[in-house]
Amino acid sequence: MFSSGPDKRVELFTESVSFDKRLYPQDIRASIAHAQMLAAVGLLEQVECQLIQAALEKIQERIEQGRFEYKTELEDIHMHIETALIRRLDDIGRKLHTGRSRNDQVATDLRLWVRDSIDQLDQRLAELQRAFLYRCDLDCDAILPGYTHFQRAQPILAPHYWLCYCEKFERDRGRLADCRKRANVCSLGAAALAGTSLPIDRDDVAARLGFDSVAANSLDVSSDRDFVLEFAFTMALIATHLSTWAEEWILWSTTEFDFLKLPHDFCTGSSIMPQKINPDVLELTRGKSARVIGNLQTLLVLVKGLPLAYNRDLQEDKPAIFDSFDTVDACLELAAALVMGARLNRPSIEARLDRGFLDATTLMEFFIKRGVPQRSAHHSVGALVRKAMDRGVRLADLPLADFQELCPEIDERVYDVLGVDNAIKSFVSYGSTAPQEVARQVERWKQRIGEVRS
Ligand code: ARG
Repeated sequence: MFSSGPDKRVELFTESVSFDKRLYPQDIRASIAHAQMLAAVGLLEQVECQLIQAALEKIQERIEQGRFEYKTELEDIHMHIETALIRRLDDIGRKLHTGRSRNDQVATDLRLWVRDSIDQLDQRLAELQRAFLYRCDLDCDAILPGYTHFQRAQPILAPHYWLCYCEKFERDRGRLADCRKRANVCSLGAAALAGTSLPIDRDDVAARLGFDSVAANSLDVSSDRDFVLEFAFTMALIATHLSTWAEEWILWSTTEFDFLKLPHDFCTGSSIMPQKINPDVLELTRGKSARVIGNLQTLLVLVKGLPLAYNRDLQEDKPAIFDSFDTVDACLELAAALVMGARLNRPSIEARLDRGFLDATTLMEFFIKRGVPQRSAHHSVGALVRKAMDRGVRLADLPLADFQELCPEIDERVYDVLGVDNAIKSFVSYGSTAPQEVARQVERWKQRIGEVRS
């Protein structure tokens, strides 16, 4: 049909092999399953199928040995593998593309890749959760100031802090699992957009590739990239969680905070200031989240104006989703090691725990337990805090008379809730930072994901 090949510039502009070549394992896997199905329904001879399978395996071997030649005139990894097959098997190789199009082939390969990538990130997230859990044992009785509005608020047990991240990453794992369900649907057999007049067996292919089901509408599935977008969103959220953690730890490792010592092999120095130990891994974890968030935007804009069904624009989904995966995967790998390697600077934290009236809310609740309405108790403790501030003392240093002046029912037991240690012990509610509650949660997490020893 064409009177000439494409202009060289067009060839370079339209190629995708430079980035989709990483789909070779998925492409070969899907092609073998497709060939086996073709043989099962009689569109290929058994012996042809065997030859195709053996040749595809050889091609995979060559790719993995770095002995496979890529050239842009073959556009993408799918054309490369098929062309290599034809070179080996001639007309038998020319039969592989029976009943399929690159449109459903690309979608299938990408679904397989998303599925594999989700499984890998899930492992990484579990590793990171185990790293935080390891910290729970390490820092089991350490108390940290908790913040709201980035002002000192109430005391928090260190394991409560660590399990907070376990919870966030658990939700991310849930989102991955959810996304996996919708990705794990077979597109192969949708052909170009309308299906095929050949007697293919889509259930057969789906089963061979471990898909849960077969996409019911050929037009939908050849245009659908929802699964890519969901995966991109989930990774953007993981990157965001990592970024907030990184930001917190960057602050905690400053001289001003001095809460945390980062492992030196995860930091870098300065070429001019000899004393510097910079938290580059954390900074880049925070910084790289920008790319992952940006990739989600790229994908949303990419698909928003596309008519049905396949459009070449869709080829642009791969650089974005691959980049998100590579970035998040690398961040997670380092995060787990960093979480295990850091150490709380307990003397420095403890020396300043008396600052910021972290026990004020517990004192207010003590008033409430003595029958004072909450709003009045809040007001009274506010007055006590002001008094303590003026005198430059802690709440625990105020004489009993100061408390009784505001609430005559108060006796010396008030001192049992003052100070961060007492305040921590006063908590009782489910999900709170109460020591028994935190211990129960640590146990629950150990049951859930197991323990890690460094
Ligand atoms: N390289 C293309 C991609 O990755 C392959 C799909 C080609 N389909 C087509 N009808 N030109 O999207």
